Parts: sequence; C-alpha cells; structure tokens
Amino acid sequence: MDLILLGAPGAGKGTQGSRLAETLGIPKVATGDILRESVREKTPLGLKAKEYMDAGELVPDEVILGLVHDALASPAAENGVIFDGFPRNVKQAEDLGRILEKAGRRVDGVIVLEVPDDAIVERMSGRRTDPDTGLVYHVVHNPPPAEVAGRVIQRADDHEDTVRHRLKVYAEQTAPLISFYEREGAVVSRVDGTREINEVQAEILRVLRP
Ligand code: AP5
Repeated sequence: MDLILLGAPGAGKGTQGSRLAETLGIPKVATGDILRESVREKTPLGLKAKEYMDAGELVPDEVILGLVHDALASPAAENGVIFDGFPRNVKQAEDLGRILEKAGRRVDGVIVLEVPDDAIVERMSGRRTDPDTGLVYHVVHNPPPAEVAGRVIQRADDHEDTVRHRLKVYAEQTAPLISFYEREGAVVSRVDGTREINEVQAEILRVLRP
C-alpha cells in the first residue's frame, strides 16, 4: 500500500506517519527527515539543501527525486511506503506516479491533515525532536519522556517568520495537490488534524479500513 500524508507544515504528518508505519508495518519515507540527517552529517546534499530549508523554501525537485528513488529501491519498501512531506508540488506528484507505475504500483490513498494556520504556529513553537530516534514531541501536547527530555532539540526552521513563509509555500505549491489527486481519481480523505493525537490516528485508521 502506497500512501501519501498531505498537510501544512506542523499538521502532524511526521507524528501520524510514524504511528501508521508501525501499525501498518510499512516504512515511512519522510523527505524532510532525510534532508535534515544530510544537513547534520554535512554531506554535499545536506550543504546544498540547508540554505533552502533555513529559508523555508522547497529544495530543488531533482535533489528530492534522487532521495525518493533511493528510498523506494530499498527492499523494505517493496510492499509500499507512507510518504511524509512528498510530493510537494505537481511536478513531484507526476514523477512519483511514473516511478510507481514502472513498479506496477500506484498511489492507493491520500490523507489530508487539516489544521488552521494559527494552531500550526503554536505547534511549531512547542515542537521538539529526539535526534537519536527522530521521534517528534510537543512541550504541551505530547511531552517527551523523562529519559529523552534532556536531549530533545528545536528545529532551525521552526521560528515564527520561517513557519509563516512555509505556510505560504504550502498554500501555493502543495495544497493544489489535493485537487490534482482528486482529478486523478485517487482516494483522498480529509481528516481533522486539530483533534488529540490518538483521535487523529484513530480517524486515519478508520478511513483506511472502513
Ligand atoms: P518537512 O520536514 O517535510 O516539514 P513540513 O512539511 O514543513 O512538516 P513538519 O515536519 O514541520 O510538520 P509535520 O506535519 O510533520 O508535523 P509534526 O508531526 O512534526 O520539510 C522541511 C523542509 O525540508 C521544507 O521546508 C523544505 O525545505 C524541505 N523539503 C522536505 N520535503 C521536500 C520536498 N518533497 N520537496 C522540496 N523540499 C522539501 O507535528 C508538529 C508539532 O505538533 C509536534 O510538536 C507534534 O508533537 C505536535 N502535534 C502533532 N499532532 C498534534 C495534534 N493532533 N495535537 C496537538 N499537537 C500535535
């Protein structure tokens, strides 16, 4: 099963993607996580991506497509993946369609997490990430356990100005994918992402397994 998690920055794609990956037993491919790891390791890819990420801009498509090709070539991905943060524009969606088609696969579902902009800004300011596991927490809504709390970090692109710019980029380049997939005839399910994390998860599972 190949699933896409769509939603604005901070809508909960990473949080729900990790839970879904565990529940469904298929890997999550999160382009943002892969890019951040490359930035931390100062690889040529990371050095190239960093300036775009810090500015809240999309990293060039050819860089992202290389990452996705590599991720899909992994044996773990042969029964499907959960895409988190990809595709991000129509060009990426068209390329993904071609890659999956060559493998005899297609996008089986698109989950759209809907959260208003003001709630997003509050979430981003409280977000903390465990650099060891990549798990995402929030200081109020999902606090890290005591043994993890000392090492969590705040993302460089979570400052309010950058978050507002990322929301603009989302509205202009990524939100049009909702109608793109509806036109393609994919199953597109809109989920209220403002509810409590476990409730959002239950709703996603309900739409996937009606
Ligand atoms: P990326 O890492 O993909 O970031 P994003 O899409 O902006 O999304 P986030 O990771 O910020 O949020 P999320 O939806 O995963 O929310 P989360 O679960 O963390 O991309 C970063 C950058 O990389 C981009 O700006 C771009 O430069 C580049 N990039 C990545 N992919 C690319 C691509 N395909 N093409 C080009 N460039 C690309 O939740 C947020 C917070 O809210 C957390 O603290 C969480 O604990 C909390 N929370 C989650 N759910 C709830 C809830 N239901 N109630 C209360 N709090 C909640």
